[in-house]
Amino acid sequence: MASSTGPVLGPGLLVSVNRTSGVALNEQIESSIRDAVRAGQLAPGARLPSSRALASELGISRGVVSEAYGQLAAEGYLQSRQGAPVTVARRVSSPAPPAPTLPLLPTYAYDFHPGMPDLDGFPRDRWLRSVRAAIQRAPGSAMGHGDPRGQPELREALSDYLGRVRGTASDPEQTVMRSGFRDALALLCRWLAGRGVEQVAIEEPGAHAHRLIVEQAGMSVVPVPVDGHGLRVDALARSGASAVIVTPAHQFPTGCVLATERRAALIAWAEDEGRLIIEDDMDGELRYDGARPGALQGLAPERVVYIGSASKRLLPGLRLGWMQLPSWLTWPLVSAVTVDGGGPGAISQLALQDFITRGELDRHLRRMRQRYARRRDTLLDALAHHVPDAALSAGAGAGAAGLYEVAYLPADTDDTGWITRAGERGVGVHGLSLHHFGSPTRKGFILGFAGLSEPAIEQGIRLLAASRTRARASN
Ligand SMILES: Cc1ncc(COP(=O)(O)O)c(C=O)c1O
Repeated sequence: MASSTGPVLGPGLLVSVNRTSGVALNEQIESSIRDAVRAGQLAPGARLPSSRALASELGISRGVVSEAYGQLAAEGYLQSRQGAPVTVARRVSSPAPPAPTLPLLPTYAYDFHPGMPDLDGFPRDRWLRSVRAAIQRAPGSAMGHGDPRGQPELREALSDYLGRVRGTASDPEQTVMRSGFRDALALLCRWLAGRGVEQVAIEEPGAHAHRLIVEQAGMSVVPVPVDGHGLRVDALARSGASAVIVTPAHQFPTGCVLATERRAALIAWAEDEGRLIIEDDMDGELRYDGARPGALQGLAPERVVYIGSASKRLLPGLRLGWMQLPSWLTWPLVSAVTVDGGGPGAISQLALQDFITRGELDRHLRRMRQRYARRRDTLLDALAHHVPDAALSAGAGAGAAGLYEVAYLPADTDDTGWITRAGERGVGVHGLSLHHFGSPTRKGFILGFAGLSEPAIEQGIRLLAASRTRARASN
């Protein structure tokens, strides 16, 4: 007997079985018919051959076909009634149009992405040790749904760490783990929107991500200008917003630090009418100039939600983030967390706890600070050499910090054309205009230096400059 029965054409039906495939014959018939119904090849109401007829055409026993028909009837694809022919069920919906394919993010040989740490610098072996320890030591309570705020051991370790390195007024009871900064901000924004907040102030220029998250929660953004001392609190006071998102330790994208008197004014603004400050401390430990601007939250823990994450400190792919909440906000947000069930998995959380407790995070950041400082110097040298009319970060408080540097360009620069041409040469750069909400006051690039080796930075900037030459020549 042949191992495979060729396609059998019933009335509009294509079924084939293969005896050597290792898949049960009834399952093969089921999937052929299921696929044909889903694809619309078998229309609702279409009649199928009798089980006897199909079995004889396929050279298999009738019981196998009956079993397949019975299963498909139980799933709702077919209708079979005693004495009546088997038909395709009437309520099977027509095939869905093909899902749109997501556009792939372009990849570049020299990617100056401003938010990317050195992925190769992640200490995989040390992290593995922490993951192993986490699995070996995880208490039973971690294996279930656990505390919606996150693993207590981690909240304890993280609170100590943040108090020590960022000067936060930490309380593990008011610490909530989320899957990164954006997840934490989205949670908070949903809660604010649910409380009737309509507008959230954001920095101008500021992070595009802040704006999208606020808008996705159904609120609108009020851009508030930033100058060389950080957010203009006088303009914030006129904005009418009852919450603001700020990057006080390292303004995104200008790089400046929120000045001392502005910090005091911002806190006074929040205390005045019970307003809320949302602090994005994306890269607070990554400074290379000896300055140590602390977290704002330490000055006003009841008015500031502090949010940090592992994305710049370790890896974006870990999806680990943390919030330090005011006492009055903790339980309302924990209720929301209990409902949404989100947050990072227990094993990653316990691994981070082990990593922090063994001093690995401190060691890793020390190593990265040295590496990033060298890469930043290389970027500045390459810019000075290849793009001499670029001016570096303007803010009075801006220093050597973070994962990127802003290169401001003359006002008549065709920055968008330049970015396109650089992309064609394998150089990925972000324009400053992406992070402006109104018309940009200045042109420039935000150049990430952390994720590229020193030779790659030099070569990438050389190619970037060469793309500009072509742009000018072709204008
Ligand atoms: C302004 C800003 N803050 C923080 C982050 C970190 O976000 P996450 O922790 O979700 O990776 C990002 C990343 O896109 C960002 O753009």
